[in-house]
Amino acid sequence: MKKLALPTTDHIPMPYDGPSRADVLALRTQYLTPGLITYYRDPLLIVEGRMQYLWDETGKQYLDAFAGIVTVSVGHCHPDIVARVRDQIGRLQHTTTIYLHPAIGELGRRLAEHMPPGSGLSVSYFTNSGSEANEIAVLSAREFTGNTDVISLRGGYHGGTQGAMALTAHGTWKFKSSPSANVKNATPGYCYRCPYGLEYPSCELKCARDVEPLIRFETSGDLACFIGEPIQGVGGVVTPPPEYLQVVYDIVRRHGGLCIADEVQTGFGRTGAKFWGFENWNVTPDLVTMAKGIGNGAPLGACVTRPEIAKVMARRIHFNTFGGNPVSVTQGLATLDIIDRDRLQDNARDVGAHLKNRLLELQERQPLIGEVRGLGLMLGVELVKDRRTKEPAAAETAEVMELAKERGLLIGKGGLDGNILRIKPPLCITKADADFLVDCLDDVLSTVSGDGAFVSR
Ligand SMILES: Cc1ncc(COP(=O)(O)O)c(C=O)c1O
Repeated sequence: MKKLALPTTDHIPMPYDGPSRADVLALRTQYLTPGLITYYRDPLLIVEGRMQYLWDETGKQYLDAFAGIVTVSVGHCHPDIVARVRDQIGRLQHTTTIYLHPAIGELGRRLAEHMPPGSGLSVSYFTNSGSEANEIAVLSAREFTGNTDVISLRGGYHGGTQGAMALTAHGTWKFKSSPSANVKNATPGYCYRCPYGLEYPSCELKCARDVEPLIRFETSGDLACFIGEPIQGVGGVVTPPPEYLQVVYDIVRRHGGLCIADEVQTGFGRTGAKFWGFENWNVTPDLVTMAKGIGNGAPLGACVTRPEIAKVMARRIHFNTFGGNPVSVTQGLATLDIIDRDRLQDNARDVGAHLKNRLLELQERQPLIGEVRGLGLMLGVELVKDRRTKEPAAAETAEVMELAKERGLLIGKGGLDGNILRIKPPLCITKADADFLVDCLDDVLSTVSGDGAFVSR
């Protein structure tokens, strides 16, 4: 194994004196649902984190290039966040929204200020998760329009509740017992694997234009909404061509539907050039859902919309006990303050561009890399056995992750075939971290055998 040095950090992890990894695993196996998956053949025990780094129980340091599934935006245990949350939790953990608390309205105001000027996106409904935010968004769209039909995208992911699973068009990934007759799936802008065998731009955006016949022939013709991620996260960093969302939004609006942007992964500066993912596609949604990066690890989500749409939620009682609790919301405010103060969106743009360029260079000498795509610090590397046939290299992807872990690099994977490396680190990573990441992948890609030894479910 090549000697690769992780960038140094001042942080010295505390000695770990908890139960052994074997005991932790045994407890989990006996007492937790087998539905929980773990990454890696030997699941990792992580006991401490600071900024972009994590440590296991032996004191081994890792670069976290997956940020707790794109959750940790400004850095693990950011000292400013820890201080503010510690102060809040010592004063008041919970009041429910039936009483007033200053933090919740303040976060609503700050989110509204981060929306594009003139968009009218100014009213927040706080939740504990992205799934709940998407449930509220679709419910609001149905109530507002009086229609029930929804369009979502193949390969999209919107969460794990019954309603969110029905939006999540993931073939064999998700339970088939959560279908919805009112949700139809359109074709995403996945040019590398165009289902029509066309090429951009001569394709004239057939994937986006096909939303029109889908609505006419497979729905009532009157839509409640379209929901889509500006860049598909779990689906494998699927990054549509520039006009894709404009074409889809136009068609949906002509059929009476609202447009929901699921910014759970793409929001909060991750795509670098823009604060919200949708802004990269020059569209303005009617509802924006968010979670993960909003709270740097806190269970916090939100649906932000225009006042006239939000008003429909006052027709009945709809209540979320912990949604907008003072502790989560304080963490959300602290996160937003740090993103702005430390110009982390700019860092995502600059380090992201450097990282993407280096990955593109890597593609030139590593034949397993079929495509490098994404924006800012939301990058994907699609691995294929053969660049001509594009056969997904799923076993190799699992092996790359495993070998990268040995070298101190944690990355994610995605795509329907599990053959896409997902690189989505905390926004605070440096160019030195990016260089370590690429050098590590270079070393690993030179040694993968593809023998399937590391494939798990
Ligand atoms: C784009 C997107 N939307 C929604 C969700 C669901 O969020 P949560 O797991 O917080 O319910 C996820 C989770 O990965 C996601 O990636």
